Amino acid sequence: MVDARVPPVLTAGPVTLRPHRLDDRDDIVEACRDEATWTWTTVPHPYEPEHADEYLARTIGSAVDGEWPRWAIDVDGRFAGNFGLRVVDGRADVGYFVAPWARGRGVGTLALWLACDWAFRDGGCEVVTWNALVGNEGSRRMVEKVGFHVHRDASRRYVVQRGERRDAWTADLLPEDLVSVGALLP
Ligand SMILES: CC(C)(COP(=O)(O)OP(=O)(O)OC[C@H]1O[C@@H](n2cnc3c(N)ncnc32)[C@H](O)[C@@H]1OP(=O)(O)O)[C@@H](O)C(=O)NCCC(=O)NCCS
Repeated sequence: MVDARVPPVLTAGPVTLRPHRLDDRDDIVEACRDEATWTWTTVPHPYEPEHADEYLARTIGSAVDGEWPRWAIDVDGRFAGNFGLRVVDGRADVGYFVAPWARGRGVGTLALWLACDWAFRDGGCEVVTWNALVGNEGSRRMVEKVGFHVHRDASRRYVVQRGERRDAWTADLLPEDLVSVGALLP
């Protein structure tokens, strides 16, 4: 069984996945107010500091939504994004954003690799799945780089974003699909 209360610290190159800290709060607020973040994820919009307080209160030191780990992405000691795995019956579904100040240099790809590697090695998972709102080219490119098989057709009305049901791209990753981390390191 996954112990989601203390997510393990995982590192690849310049990217670390670590438990959240209270002093991540202001960076979380700034990142969640970024247009790409709220456009492509389900974070509240408009995003208020209280949303970050509530998120951190739920995330730090307690199991979140059952049995699933959530990490802060960390680069150079600064919060650089959120990464979550929803683990159900041996399947882990990924959810993430990279903070605007950390984008475009492979941070998301390495964070995704770390979480998938952990899911297979230690999380007891047989498959990792992904979905993104149709049109999220950056997230799609990221999962393709790590080895995910993106399904040809979009899944209709697959996700709910702020009360509206939207079509999504979906993909899956088996352990043998995961690329070598050496192929991703800068
Ligand atoms: C999508 C996101 C996670 C990518 O993070 P990142 O750290 O910038 O990604 P990387 O630097 O690892 O880039 C991975 C690949 O995607 C490409 N990419 C990144 N953003 C892109 C975009 N907006 N459009 C097209 N390609 C993009 C990169 O060029 C790279 O491919 P390459 O190596 O072939 O050049 C980040 O932009 C983000 O958080 N966006 C808003 C929230 C979001 O979409 N979350 C995911 C919901 S499913």
